[in-house]
Amino acid sequence: MTDDEKPLLKVEGLVKHFPIKKGLLQRQVGAVKAVDGIDFEVRRGETLGVVGESGCGKSTMGRLITRLLEPSGGKIEFDGKDITHLGTSGMRPLRRDVQMIFQDPYGSLNPRHTIGTIVSAPFRLQGVEPEGGVKQEVQRLLELVGLSPEHYNRYPHEFSGGQRQRIGIARALALKPRMVVADEPVSALDVSIQAQVVNLMDDLQDELGLTYVIIAHDLSVVRHVSDRIAVMYLGKIVELADRDSLYASPMHPYTKALLSAVPIPDPRRRAAKSERILLRGDVPSPIAPPSGCRFHTRCWKATQICKSTEPPLIELRPGQRVACHHPENFEDQAPQDTVLLSAAKEAAALVADEVLAESAQTSAAVAAEAAETSAEEAEEPVSKEPGDK
Ligand SMILES: Nc1ncnc2c1ncn2[C@@H]1O[C@H](COP(=O)(O)OP(=O)(O)OP(=O)(O)O)[C@@H](O)[C@H]1O
Ligand code: SF4
Ligand SMILES: [Mg+2]
Repeated sequence: MTDDEKPLLKVEGLVKHFPIKKGLLQRQVGAVKAVDGIDFEVRRGETLGVVGESGCGKSTMGRLITRLLEPSGGKIEFDGKDITHLGTSGMRPLRRDVQMIFQDPYGSLNPRHTIGTIVSAPFRLQGVEPEGGVKQEVQRLLELVGLSPEHYNRYPHEFSGGQRQRIGIARALALKPRMVVADEPVSALDVSIQAQVVNLMDDLQDELGLTYVIIAHDLSVVRHVSDRIAVMYLGKIVELADRDSLYASPMHPYTKALLSAVPIPDPRRRAAKSERILLRGDVPSPIAPPSGCRFHTRCWKATQICKSTEPPLIELRPGQRVACHHPENFEDQAPQDTVLLSAAKEAAALVADEVLAESAQTSAAVAAEAAETSAEEAEEPVSKEPGDK
C-alpha cells in the first residue's frame, strides 16, 4: 500500500465513557457509554457520512477524532501518526490539519466579534501570517464561501442562518485543513438553504482537496455527498458501506429502518419499497445498553443469539461491513437460531408484511414465525357468510 492509498484517519476500538459521579465524595457510580468500541477509517479525499438517531454518539465520535475530547480507550491515527493521547504541543500541527464545523451557526460565532475577527482567529491562534496579510486572506475566504468581502466589519447578527454557516465554513478553512469534521452542519438551517450549504461544501471539497466526515441525523442530508456511510446505534457502528451498496441493499435491519424513513425521489424505487418501518420504543439508555446486539430490543428479527452474543462488524460483501446475525439481503449468519424473541414479535407488528416477507428470505426465525402464523390462520374456522366479499 502506498502512502496515498493509506487512509487519512484510522480508528480502532475507540471508546468514550463519561463517568457519572454521585454524592459528596463524587464517587463514580456508572458511565455513559457514548462511544463504545468503534473501528473505521476515512480515506483521502472522500466524504464519510455518519448517521444515527439522537444520542447514539455521533458528536462524541466527531469530537474524539478532532481530539477536542480525550478518548477513554482505543487508537486514533491521522496520516499514519498516533494522535490518541497527544498533548497540547503535540496537537498544534494537527489543529491546522483537522477542523470542525458545528451544528449551531447561531451559538458558534461570538456575537461581539466582527466577521473579520472571527474568520481571522485561526491565524492569530496558530501564529500564522498568510501571504498578502490577514485581511486580504479573510476577504478571499469570504468570497470563496459565497459572501462579500465587504462583510468583513459586520457582526454575526446581521446575517441569516445560512450565511452564518458560511462564515463558520470560512473559519474552518482558514488554515487549509486536510480533514473537516462537520457535525450536523445544516440541521439548524431552513430546509431550502440546507442544499445550498451542502453543495458549497461539496464544491469546496473538489477545489481544495478536502476530506470530510459529515455527521447527520438522517440519511437525506448526507445521501448525495457521501462516498461511504457509517450507521451508528447506541455507541456502535452497525453498518459501514459504500453509499450505493447501502442504498441498494442495506444489510443491517436498523439501516433498513432508517432508509425507510427517507423520502425517495426516484419513482421507480418509491413503487418498489415505500414501506416505512416504525421502530418499537425509544433508544435504550447508553448507561446500560442491551446485551448482545444493542438493537435486539427493537429488532423484528431478533433471536436468542442476538440477546446473548454481540455480532462483530464484518465485511460480508466487498465494501460493506455489517454487525448482524440475521442480516437483510444476505445469507443468515445464524440459521440454527430459529425462534424469535418475544420483543421481536412485538416489533414485527409495526413492520409491514412486505418488509417481513423480505426479512424472511434471510432469517430462518422470521420465516418460521411467518409459517406458523399462516398455519394458524388456515386452521381458523371460516366465519364468512356466503356472498360476503
Ligand atoms: N460531556 C458529556 N458528559 C456526559 N454525557 C455526555 C457528554 N456528552 C455527551 N454525553 C452523552 O453521550 C451520549 C451520546 O451523545 P452525543 O452528543 O455524542 O450523541 P449524538 O449522536 O451527537 O446526538 P444528537 O443527534 O442529539 O446530536 C448521550 O447520551 C449524551 O447524553
Ligand atoms: S437480527 Fe439480531 S443481530 Fe441483527 S440487528 Fe436484529 S437483533 Fe441485531
Ligand atoms: Mg450530536
